Amino acid sequence: MDTYLVTGAAGFIGRSIAAELLARGKKVRGIDNFATGKRDNLRGLEAMDFIEADINDAEAVATACRGVECIFHEAAIPSVPRSIEDPVASNRAGVSGTVQLLVAAKDAKVRRVVYAGSSSVYGNTPTLPKSERMQPSPISPYAAAKLSGELYMQSFARVFGLETVILRYFNVFGPFQDPTSQYSGVLAIWTLKMLAGDAPTIYGDGEQSRDFTFIQNVVHGNLLASEAPAERVSGQVFNVATGSRVTLNHAIEIMSRATGYNGEVRYAMERRGDVKHSLADISLAKACFGYQPQVDFREGIERTVAWYKTIAKSSNSQAGSEL
Ligand code: UD1
Repeated sequence: MDTYLVTGAAGFIGRSIAAELLARGKKVRGIDNFATGKRDNLRGLEAMDFIEADINDAEAVATACRGVECIFHEAAIPSVPRSIEDPVASNRAGVSGTVQLLVAAKDAKVRRVVYAGSSSVYGNTPTLPKSERMQPSPISPYAAAKLSGELYMQSFARVFGLETVILRYFNVFGPFQDPTSQYSGVLAIWTLKMLAGDAPTIYGDGEQSRDFTFIQNVVHGNLLASEAPAERVSGQVFNVATGSRVTLNHAIEIMSRATGYNGEVRYAMERRGDVKHSLADISLAKACFGYQPQVDFREGIERTVAWYKTIAKSSNSQAGSEL
């Protein structure tokens, strides 16, 4: 049976891809150094062969790639503001780690690498929706690292014939996203706050918009991209999103209904390096590998809120049983 490797397997997106592969009866190996991934995220993935290591560890990555058919490369240090605080760490994980993985993949004769790219590479260019034909214009070090990773993917496809597919994710959210860090995705932070009855904060006027993409859409896009014929996808870039956008002000309204929160909303200064509007053209992914969004924003929020409620309940009851 084919073996799949997921890098960043203890992270939000990596663990979600691994879970779906296992549900489909596939053999899965995972690698993560827990820099931002969580041990708790591995719950339910016991059938995965897990390696705790950094993707910059040449030996560990070579072992991880052995006998692998396809890699889903999700390992990175996410967050625009974190990359502004520490561009070196962002580069080490996102760029050096990617090159290390590609070398190991080529040496192990892996067939395909599907790469987690980011909508951040489009920057603040005024044209909407963002199409893959547009010139990238990264603002943050995070975006610069994600774009460098893309270029290495394309280089390895051209020079070594390794099949590589680049998926540019647009603001992914859903179950298993860590809500506890200042660098967490906005919807995870807000869900946790609103469920606790605390005021969410909007940076800026709240009129910035995002193509918020529920995790199931991203998992679906990855699996399709791993199966599509090479001549349709290899060396190419695809947006993976919903093709619609929501302003932060509107998102708060929808989330208030889903969480039952009716307290105040705080406004604070706009964040440095922030993109104003983000919306994807998803027609290329549709045409080349049949991608269709499965879950829209509203439903995604409902499912996310339901999941965080279950987690809160189970951690309360665990705390209770320890008393
Ligand atoms: C960017 C990328 C995204 C990538 C992510 C990785 C763009 C358009 N998107 O997301 O594809 O996956 O980096 O981390 O570049 N905000 C608040 N209140 C909060 C927290 C955030 O108002 O408490 C605001 C931010 O200022 C921003 C928006 O919410 O305007 C979204 O922020 P965040 O969730 O951090 O993601 P992006 O930086 O948009």
